[in-house]
Amino acid sequence: MRLLVIGASGLVGSHLLAAAKQAGFATLGTARTATVDLRVCQLGDPATLAGLLTEFRPDVVACTAGFTWADGCEADPERSRRENLEQPLALAQFCAQQGVRFVYYSSAYVFAGTQGAYTEADAPQPVNVYGRHKAEAERRIAEATGGDALILRLIHVWGEEAKGKNFVYQVSRANIAGEELHVSSVYRGNPTWAGDIATWTVGLLQRQARGVWHLAGEQPQLTRLAWAREILRGLQGLGHVEKVRLVAQAAVDPAATPRPVASGLDTSKIQTFIPLVCRAPHDLPSSFR
Ligand SMILES: NC(=O)c1ccc[n+]([C@@H]2O[C@H](COP(=O)([O-])OP(=O)(O)OC[C@H]3O[C@@H](n4cnc5c(N)ncnc54)[C@H](OP(=O)(O)O)[C@@H]3O)[C@@H](O)[C@H]2O)c1
Repeated sequence: MRLLVIGASGLVGSHLLAAAKQAGFATLGTARTATVDLRVCQLGDPATLAGLLTEFRPDVVACTAGFTWADGCEADPERSRRENLEQPLALAQFCAQQGVRFVYYSSAYVFAGTQGAYTEADAPQPVNVYGRHKAEAERRIAEATGGDALILRLIHVWGEEAKGKNFVYQVSRANIAGEELHVSSVYRGNPTWAGDIATWTVGLLQRQARGVWHLAGEQPQLTRLAWAREILRGLQGLGHVEKVRLVAQAAVDPAATPRPVASGLDTSKIQTFIPLVCRAPHDLPSSFR
């Protein structure tokens, strides 16, 4: 299988590229900015995207790229619409015309977050700009591909990444610096290792799967604070001394971007189709040493 990953320098994309190579796929990855071993490509540049398809002839295009910062989307909804909806949709339409399968990475933010864990049968009801554009993109990409696209919903992804920006790095940095870290004891969901998302994505492609899937870890009700404690446990297991002071934030800031509170994902569908023992949130890879 030949797989083109748009956004291969990111958290999800870099793990996907590695897992696909490991599975024997021929791969090509892109990034928005110059990155070793990746091609530079903007989602909003159809000529370059078309050129990559002509040159590489993928069977599948996986799009992990987008404007993923919820506060930024709230402040600049036009950019969110372009990068989370219009540009991935145009790419999905182009792929459908070329007979190339399409994978779109979506989010638990399509849900209201009042009653997680959500299944694939639950109706999206987003509460912010990012979630609205992700939900509309899901629907229109499914239509544009006649239901053939894979729509993979994710939540609270962590793992090794070049930019070191996910929650594990945040807790680790605060711990090394001996800082106070304010963490919500309200928002909850499944911490999910990016390597497990990659394993499942490869498995779904190998099995010619289509439609919506929830790819998430095993604890849909874990609060951010409880997750931070699991990370600290993992860091201690790697030899770190606990220096950070975790401070529980029990209130939801009414002035902040609205976010789903309980947006955990039910994973029965994927676990039945491709059973996987997911990496636990305290089981940190040795690179976090
Ligand atoms: N991380 C999570 O917890 C989470 C949760 C739910 C859903 N998701 C979804 O999963 C997907 C991947 O997330 P992620 O955390 O891996 O994101 P990420 O780490 O920010 O990576 C994004 C990747 O896309 C590229 N990119 C961004 N904007 C682009 C553009 N306009 N044109 C071309 N390339 C662009 C980036 O390139 P540069 O490195 O050059 O900027 C990078 O390779 C997203 O669709 C996100 O909505 C993530």
